[in-house]
Amino acid sequence: MDRLSFDMTRCMADERGHGGLSPKMLATFAPRLTGALRAVYDAAGTGMRGWIDLPRQDPRPFLDYRNENAGRYDCLLVIGIGGSALGITALASALLPFYYNELSPEERGTRPRLYVLDNVDPDETTDLLNRLDLERTLVNVISKSGTTGESMAGYLVVKERLEAAVGAAAVKDHLVFTTDPAGGALRRIGTTLGVPMFDLPAAVGGRFSVLTAVGLLPAALTAMDVQGLLAGASDMADWIAGTEGWENPACAFAGVQFLEDTALGRFVSVMMPYSARLRDVADWYRQLWAESLGKAEDRQGRVVNTGPLPVKGLGVTDQHSQLQLYMEGPDDKILTFLGVGEFATEVIVPAPGPEAEELAYLGGHTLAELMAAEQRSTAWALAQEGRPSLTITVPRVDAFSVGALLYLLEMATAVAGELYDVDAYNQPGVELSKQATYALMGRPGFEALAGEIS
Ligand code: PA5
Repeated sequence: MDRLSFDMTRCMADERGHGGLSPKMLATFAPRLTGALRAVYDAAGTGMRGWIDLPRQDPRPFLDYRNENAGRYDCLLVIGIGGSALGITALASALLPFYYNELSPEERGTRPRLYVLDNVDPDETTDLLNRLDLERTLVNVISKSGTTGESMAGYLVVKERLEAAVGAAAVKDHLVFTTDPAGGALRRIGTTLGVPMFDLPAAVGGRFSVLTAVGLLPAALTAMDVQGLLAGASDMADWIAGTEGWENPACAFAGVQFLEDTALGRFVSVMMPYSARLRDVADWYRQLWAESLGKAEDRQGRVVNTGPLPVKGLGVTDQHSQLQLYMEGPDDKILTFLGVGEFATEVIVPAPGPEAEELAYLGGHTLAELMAAEQRSTAWALAQEGRPSLTITVPRVDAFSVGALLYLLEMATAVAGELYDVDAYNQPGVELSKQATYALMGRPGFEALAGEIS
């Protein structure tokens, strides 16, 4: 299988003296990258680093569940938030046909339509539930902690609707939970009601969980290539384990982002896929990078208030929305382009008639050529303004490449955690807001906090 490629040429200082990385900087920094990667591996098996070994798991439980339930459900509704939703959303955009939910039952075969509810907007929830044929719907409630208020509220709302639609005794046949093996309300509810449950391994946190049941169960149910995803992630794991320093893709990604931020003042990390299929990978990355690296304290407990700001974009769409700012606004951004070597389909722009002669330059080109030209021209134009970019190109958007890309970004995040010297696996800021919500919603035990919230 072809591997993705990584190009950091446009991060290098150019002859016009624009601020960029110099060969000397790279050489000086290489041992730190090697040390950071070693530290990630040395700590494997401890803390929340269970994600490192996920590529080599056996996906059979997910495939068996899918086979046992084939044809039974017309809709799969995922309820989750943050790391419990963004991974499957990224997989669905990348690997299911566009407008998948609009395919006819014949076109979908035994695959259910897929909806992800990751908000508590009452209008969205109402309109979605009104659309679903609940008698033919499977609801996958996903929560690592099994307590997150938003997801639990979603579960309660949906459960009541299910009871009305199928009767209380049959509700469990329409539910499947993905949660921590031991703790949390969801685990207890599942046990009490007899709901089938999949473990989200204790040593894997939400934003690193896409290659657990969190991503792989809905992926299997909608017949994505789960084995291909794991094969791609495994191949990337081998690549990362077998290289060092700037040759190592995870180290190179983390190193560029870290140096651009800390040495060159470019703290905004824009991820801009030139592929609509990869649009939600940028969204997933945004959470991974932000929650892992945005920390008040370093690992020695010193206040650092550190962390780059991840931003998502989409080529070519955001060339007509954000690019002006990237070119001429503050020089505080490093762009990552996600390019695609080969699209699945070819669309040739027809030659225009005599009434549109000025469009003749487009005629005969493919849309893929136009996409590639826009990506190249944008990187070039940014470079003229001294604005750095790096490019990751996947040969094509398939399960293998997506698995590799997701694992690469997870490992890059772990390496970046070492470079920033922060705990990449906690999220105290998120926890505080969760607790404040409990307090405002009247959860027993949080009364004192409720009094503090103005
Ligand atoms: O990465 C994380 O840990 C968070 O973003 C969680 O995924 C998010 O808060 C949802 O938590 P849970 O899966 O426990 O419901």
